[in-house]
Amino acid sequence: MTRIFSGVKPTGHLTLGNYLGAVRQWVAADQEPADALFCVVDLHALTVEHDPARVRRLSRQAATLLLAAGLDPRRCTLFVQSHVDEHARLAYLLECTATDGEVRRMIQYREKAAAARASGDGVRLSLLTYPVLMAADILAYRTDEVPVGEDQRQHVELTRDLAVRFNQRYGHTFAVPKATLPVVAARVMDLQEPTSKMGKSGDAGPGVVFMLDEPGVIRKKVMRAVTDSGDGGVVYDRDARPGVANLLDILGACTGAEPAALADGYSGYGALKRDVAEAVVELLRPVRERHAELAADPGTVERVLREGAGRAREVARPVVDAAYRAIGLLEP
Ligand code: AMP
Ligand code: TRP
Repeated sequence: MTRIFSGVKPTGHLTLGNYLGAVRQWVAADQEPADALFCVVDLHALTVEHDPARVRRLSRQAATLLLAAGLDPRRCTLFVQSHVDEHARLAYLLECTATDGEVRRMIQYREKAAAARASGDGVRLSLLTYPVLMAADILAYRTDEVPVGEDQRQHVELTRDLAVRFNQRYGHTFAVPKATLPVVAARVMDLQEPTSKMGKSGDAGPGVVFMLDEPGVIRKKVMRAVTDSGDGGVVYDRDARPGVANLLDILGACTGAEPAALADGYSGYGALKRDVAEAVVELLRPVRERHAELAADPGTVERVLREGAGRAREVARPVVDAAYRAIGLLEP
């Protein structure tokens, strides 16, 4: 059976980008006969300046939202990364497999390290080793497929390299995973800055649609989206017209239509924005409603996470133990 693993960081409220790029694929995978594990990767939230209470709150909220979006704990395993020690145990072995040069090349490290320096914060060492912990998350489960958005492709490539290298040096231990990206909306862009990814870290986020935004807020954000200057009408051109292309991508992802073909149906930006707003409102409405029900029953979410961690441990433990033996550590 195909083993699927993916995760989301509790560094902010989940966005439409998270939903279209990742979470929706997870829910779809959960309907298939696959063995899927989904993880709130809280250790990864500690790689940049953080507030402990906020991380706690966001971790609970992310888990609740994943259930609200349709993950079924009877079919998949949902858990919190820090509840399963195997991730950190394996990360060290992979730090002994990766090189300094290859992790410094990671685009996300470069961007986030530059941002931390610019704001006068130190760059945490864990920001550099982060993709190695991510590789451990994936390899500890002998994962075949990793459903993620475009921005994680490089990290999954590194994970593949580390798996192959470890297997060659120490004997076959890990499956070599591959990233699976959505066909449309693998990279949803910020509505105000359509050349940057829609990211959850900024809190106010006029260009960011959060999964829990009220319909009125979603409409306002979409109607104020930056479109492109020039009078070429509505055309799909990611380079020359990134704002319009992003709206068409979002509409395509919501409706299942092809973004470039959708452009033909519009003569002006106003009508396009109205349709995008309504499509997003309707897409997120059931998730928001279900979230409200689940949030009122925190005991259920806690139970799901506890059981999920137990099952995840059972899968990861023998794999990580095998890696310890293979690399040359004595059996205790
Ligand atoms: P993160 O919020 O960085 O923990 O990302 C969780 C998942 O959502 C990853 O698979 C990301 O690739 C995906 N993701 C995050 N932001 C976007 C975006 N703007 N567009 C598409 N996918 C995204
Ligand atoms: N690095 C991922 C992100 O920022 C989150 C993540 C951590 C992840 N571990 C993972 C995603 C393992 C997939 C598989 O989005």
